Amino acid sequence: MRRKLIAGNWKMHKNSETARGFATEFLKLYQVTPDMDVCIAAPFTELLALEEMFAGTDLLTAAQNMHFEDQGAFTGEISAPMLAEIGVDYVIIGHSERRAYFAETDEMVNKKVKKAFEWNITPIICCGETLPQRQQSLEDHIVRHQVVMALAGLTDEQVAKAVIAYEPVWAIGTGHVATPQQAEDMCKVIRDVIRMYHGDAADEVKILYGGSVKPDNAKELMEMEDIDGALVGGASLDPVDFLKIIHAAEN
Ligand code: 13P
Repeated sequence: MRRKLIAGNWKMHKNSETARGFATEFLKLYQVTPDMDVCIAAPFTELLALEEMFAGTDLLTAAQNMHFEDQGAFTGEISAPMLAEIGVDYVIIGHSERRAYFAETDEMVNKKVKKAFEWNITPIICCGETLPQRQQSLEDHIVRHQVVMALAGLTDEQVAKAVIAYEPVWAIGTGHVATPQQAEDMCKVIRDVIRMYHGDAADEVKILYGGSVKPDNAKELMEMEDIDGALVGGASLDPVDFLKIIHAAEN
């Protein structure tokens, strides 16, 4: 049985006051989830505060990006060892917003994934098709290609520990959530292609769905066989909504 993962992605939201406010309220309401991992991907500036506030709980943290070199003249970038030093558990890699606005390529995604493993940070690797691609029935092809490229050169043991997030671009921040069947079909496509390249690691790799996940649609999505959790954007900004999604995944 794969352990579920519910990850919140705050994107470029919250400052020190509102991040701490979230954590205070969330910690009051949150109860340990024995069958599930919960993490929050905060902006770099809030990660240390969250690490400190989550100490002694089972809550985990994630970065939203990182560079593929350990250090160097890369103004504005943050490296895996910097994240590892403060205890960050996960890193989102290849989010569609980074691919679209910051020209991240499949090759860069692959380098970042390898670097994350080198520093024992679990990558949450994002993939997903755009609306025009889906309208041309290209979604299977696009997503398979992104996944194969992201995992190229990894060992089967590493792939088994990786997290893939299927996030159709047309569902992100639009309120147009994929139907549970659409999401399941693509998560199955991903698991099948991973099986072709990495054998039984396909049974262990976690595959999340992301894109307009809300308290009222989370349960149906989380019940699907190949969906092992959610990557939640907007609804993770509110502690009560995020908890409702966690509870929906528990049942
Ligand atoms: P929304 O949940 O706001 O659609 O964002 C999804 C997402 O991009 C998570 O990484």
